[in-house]
Amino acid sequence: MTALARSREIVSEFRANVSDWLDAPRATTGSSFGALCVTALGAVSLWPMGFEIRDATDADLAEILEIEKLAFTTPWTLRSFQRELSLPFSRLAVAMSADGDSKPALAGFLCRWLVADECHILNVAVRPSFRRQGVGGLLMNNAILEARARRAAFVTLEVRRSNLAARQLYRKLHFEERRLRRHYYGPGEDAIVMELRLDGEAHPHRL
Ligand SMILES: CC(C)(COP(=O)(O)OP(=O)(O)OC[C@H]1O[C@@H](n2cnc3c(N)ncnc32)[C@H](O)[C@@H]1OP(=O)(O)O)[C@@H](O)C(=O)NCCC(=O)NCCS
Repeated sequence: MTALARSREIVSEFRANVSDWLDAPRATTGSSFGALCVTALGAVSLWPMGFEIRDATDADLAEILEIEKLAFTTPWTLRSFQRELSLPFSRLAVAMSADGDSKPALAGFLCRWLVADECHILNVAVRPSFRRQGVGGLLMNNAILEARARRAAFVTLEVRRSNLAARQLYRKLHFEERRLRRHYYGPGEDAIVMELRLDGEAHPHRL
């Protein structure tokens, strides 16, 4: 068994064992590598083992584009991603699998804008072979923690009404469905505007 496979097995057992006591706020117990992360408001997140987040560079764009094309029917272009890298208020982050045995693989990415007191998530996608391993949650949690650290009041995003996987992920992070934008993605493809308030937050987020 590779180190990555073993780390996934461990985190899966760990998730099962700690699910009951995760609700209780407690002191910080670790870093972003397969540890419990406790935010300033006492929220607890289980960060998947074997992944790390860093800022994307030009060298990542080919892989990002590949994931984008696998994830969406109308994908962003290379130019769109290049533009995001050049905008001062935009951040393109990537989740890298950190298997000690082999070259790190780009598992997913997230693009956000931070303007005034709002963090807006424009794009998030995970490579199909890495899905349901906590990578989407890790990318989102990272963006939320950064937004909170930079004193943003809320995090917003739009999601296709038909995208039940993404809606479930955002609900789990305590985003609320605020408005419907009819035919936003084309005829019959509505968007739901979702929002997570960070000021006076009633529900600390957790995954
Ligand atoms: C949505 C997406 C980013 C989720 O990434 P992921 O790494 O698989 O998500 P996670 O493993 O962190 O999942 C966290 C939670 O989200 C929910 N979730 C994720 N995928 C789900 C699915 N297919 N069905 C139902 N719930 C799902 C679950 O509650 C899950 O927790 P669980 O695994 O303990 O049940 C991924 O499916 C993806 O890239 N989709 C295509 C692109 C896309 O739709 N992006 C969002 C645009 S708004």
